[in-house]
Amino acid sequence: MSTNLKYIRSADNEIAKMTEMSAEKMLLELKYGYISSNEAMELEEKYGAHNYHPLPVVLAKGEGVYVWDPEGNRYYDFLSAYSAVNQGHCHPKIIQALIDQAKELTLTSRAFYNNKLGEYEKYITGYFGYDMVLPMNSGAEAVETAMKLARKWAYNVKGVAPDSAILIFVDDNFHGRTISIISASSDPVAFGGYGPFTPGIVRIPYDDANALKEYLEKNGKNVAAFIVEPIQGEAGVVVPQDGYLKNCYDLCHQYNVLFIADEIQSGLGRTGKLLACDYENVRPDVLILGKALSGGVLPVSAVLADKDIMLQIKPGEHGSTYGGFPLACVVAVAALKVIQEEKLTEHSFEMGEYFRSELRKIEHPMLKLVRGKGLLNAIIIEPRNGFEAWDVCLKLKDKGLLCKPTHRHIIRLAPPLIITKEQMDECLQIIKDVFNELNETLCK
Ligand SMILES: Cc1ncc(COP(=O)(O)O)c(C=O)c1O
Repeated sequence: MSTNLKYIRSADNEIAKMTEMSAEKMLLELKYGYISSNEAMELEEKYGAHNYHPLPVVLAKGEGVYVWDPEGNRYYDFLSAYSAVNQGHCHPKIIQALIDQAKELTLTSRAFYNNKLGEYEKYITGYFGYDMVLPMNSGAEAVETAMKLARKWAYNVKGVAPDSAILIFVDDNFHGRTISIISASSDPVAFGGYGPFTPGIVRIPYDDANALKEYLEKNGKNVAAFIVEPIQGEAGVVVPQDGYLKNCYDLCHQYNVLFIADEIQSGLGRTGKLLACDYENVRPDVLILGKALSGGVLPVSAVLADKDIMLQIKPGEHGSTYGGFPLACVVAVAALKVIQEEKLTEHSFEMGEYFRSELRKIEHPMLKLVRGKGLLNAIIIEPRNGFEAWDVCLKLKDKGLLCKPTHRHIIRLAPPLIITKEQMDECLQIIKDVFNELNETLCK
């Protein structure tokens, strides 16, 4: 990047750096950072891989439920980094934990013990009621870990013949982007052009316990695990029927198959319970967590299970240089404490009920359906006159509320769980105003 950047800080009116850039840029008053929104977008476009299609907004600061662009425009964040920022942006307790630990020790690798990992492991296993945890970084890595763990368990404990273990996934799943994970995907955008794929993976319909039953009746002997999102996030906040998870869990146990819940997006208070599985009193055999496990501060993920499963992985067989690094451990404990201390799960439940009931009062031909649990919600849009979910998101952005479509007709609405009733009312008003304006546009 050019070092010849020119900007004017409006906060203290201090001219920090002068550059050779255009007169227009010189006049731009930046509140945060050193480059304008336009410059930031140009740089990403030119130098970054084009593997995302972001909404045209650049974020330079975050605090609680709010984010700001470099020019100082404030927005409500209704994506929360795909539910990683449940605790709100830059939560002071999590940031303090990060800073304190960063001054002491950040990374040791697992070649040595460190004095934070064990404490974290004790804390998180107690928090969720499992014997053991295997720490990783990204969500995808944790899912991969669970897949490997299930295969090991199948060979060592269940007695499946070598290289014959089957992992069952469901249609429209989203578990990440690695080759093995997309081998289970039904979305051509995710898997198209990336074959050959990992064998030993099958897919059945979601929200259909009978499909699982039929598969297990025929092939249960070789099945290691059933891997499911209790609520499908990326698919558009698809909530299965009551009883689905419990039925699947019971079937898994009947056929000696591990029930693995990917709660990377649905967990940690997001859906109004600590885990979405709690709605059906299901305790997954293997639990996968990520995202909000660090409150949006670091990539921290985890796989939890009891000893009989977890101890199937032996020293040297699996790991990651950063997995369980001291900085992550301290941040994760702080992030989990915030969820408990601030009763974010209970708040998410109440706010979610209120939010959905108010959204359902909006009458608009494009607004087809409101669905979700807790603060993981979506509205289903019926495109009209060329207006799609993307266009609705652009209008919401212009009024100060950020969210992103998933597919062309679904908008996920998932603010940080700390959102207050007053803030929620303001956001509801923004959403109502956008639909009112859309009425005018569509009637023209
Ligand atoms: C349910 C679920 N699993 C796994 C992942 C992958 O997590 P990551 O992007 O951290 O690899 C995601 C990300 O959106 C997710 O929603």
